[in-house]
Amino acid sequence: MKKILFAGSEATPFVSTGGLGDVMGSLPAALASRFPDLSVSVVLPLYSSIPEKYRSVMKPLGSFEVPLAWRRQRCDAMYTVIGGVRYIFLGNSYYFDRPSTYGQYDDGERFAFFGSAAVELMKRDGMCPDILHANDWQSASAVIYLDREKRAGNLTGVKSVFTVHNLEYQGKYDPYILGDVFGLGEEYLPELKFGDSINLLKGAAVACDRLTTVSPTYASEILTPGFGCGLDGFLGSCRGKLRGILNGIDTRLYDPGRDPDPERRFGPVRQAGKDRCRSGLCSELGISGDGPLFSMITRLAGHKGIGLAAGMIDGLLDATGGSFVLLGTGERGYEDFFRGLEGRHPGRVRSVISYDRGLASRIYAGADIFIMPSLAEPCGLAQMIASRYGTVPVVRRTGGLADSIKQAGIEAEGSGSGKERIYGNGFVFDEPSPDALFRAAYAAAEFISDPVRKRALRRAVMSVDFSWEKSAGEYMKLYEELF
Ligand code: GLC
Repeated sequence: MKKILFAGSEATPFVSTGGLGDVMGSLPAALASRFPDLSVSVVLPLYSSIPEKYRSVMKPLGSFEVPLAWRRQRCDAMYTVIGGVRYIFLGNSYYFDRPSTYGQYDDGERFAFFGSAAVELMKRDGMCPDILHANDWQSASAVIYLDREKRAGNLTGVKSVFTVHNLEYQGKYDPYILGDVFGLGEEYLPELKFGDSINLLKGAAVACDRLTTVSPTYASEILTPGFGCGLDGFLGSCRGKLRGILNGIDTRLYDPGRDPDPERRFGPVRQAGKDRCRSGLCSELGISGDGPLFSMITRLAGHKGIGLAAGMIDGLLDATGGSFVLLGTGERGYEDFFRGLEGRHPGRVRSVISYDRGLASRIYAGADIFIMPSLAEPCGLAQMIASRYGTVPVVRRTGGLADSIKQAGIEAEGSGSGKERIYGNGFVFDEPSPDALFRAAYAAAEFISDPVRKRALRRAVMSVDFSWEKSAGEYMKLYEELF
């Protein structure tokens, strides 16, 4: 039986701040259920923020010492099994009993401890995997420490896969802490150094056997200056081991056919429930719901294309007579803009400046159109979730958005039948300008103003398979190259 050990700093349902948590919470389970001969474990930090209902069912897996430069720190490992996956939590209250998951002054040291503890765990009886699959900079050190063990003749049979979920976050530190915090010798400097910093993501990209990112388009984009976040030249040298595999979503979790309230259930064929979700959402938000109901659920950050949306939303609401709901937090300037937008369109706009999973799912279910104008998007999960709920995505052609959403339109069906057929599953634009976004969003609104076309488009949008089925198979093929 082959063993895969995932390492990452978050996984739903235990702790999650975004897409990484969703993927870590769903890909291992998808692999375990499709490949019963594979043993799948996930290792993550035992944060004090993990809810008691999960903590109370964890069992001890042993305690051991973790070397970190001159430090010797204790790790108390706990585990729990859910859906055929063993989740292992590496505990150390000094590092992980903190008010927030990230953003602590010593994140470099905290996650170096995590990486070193993951490698120590692999040395314990029965814990050695065939493949370590680490994700993003917070677990990059595990790949680097594994490499160091291999050079010393330990864990020599273990291969490594490193997945980049977002190249913007690289784990950059001052070179003077290479020895003092990371405990790595000078011989690692050339591999980790990039510019004036040491760069954990780069170090893992050098050391791993396979480097992946979360969509095929992003895998080629990151080799260009516009998307490489400074690393494009270096990443070109990794081309031979670089792959792009599109994420899936948990289609059982995001399933409009499984709403606890039967009135709200719907699917590609029976769509009446979606209209009920829509009117429920409008009354909850206190908006009239006149015209097309546009929506956004997003971090309010520049690279999410918020500037494009801000530059055209007033005009779009005027031109379509539509309504708009936004859910998200982020840069102060954007938060203020959307609060102001509410004031300018009384009864037609709601800007909810927070993050609320429950409201997010009611928006996915109730809105007509979902706007996601990212300037860069490694994969993006929101456009897939919106699609599951028949909410027509309007996206910029980049990264995983380009790989998951194809421009919709109408063509004649067969010869002279007079019938029409819909192709595609959303509205796509290229140029990163408010105007280009306006045109795509306006086209979406115009398309669904015809009730017959709206029904057919929703059906097409909902029918695309965004489950892990295909992608889990692609990861398996990648692992098989290494077994
Ligand atoms: C990051 C990326 C996002 C991707 C997610 C999961 O959050 O920004 O595009 O979907 O990771 O891989």
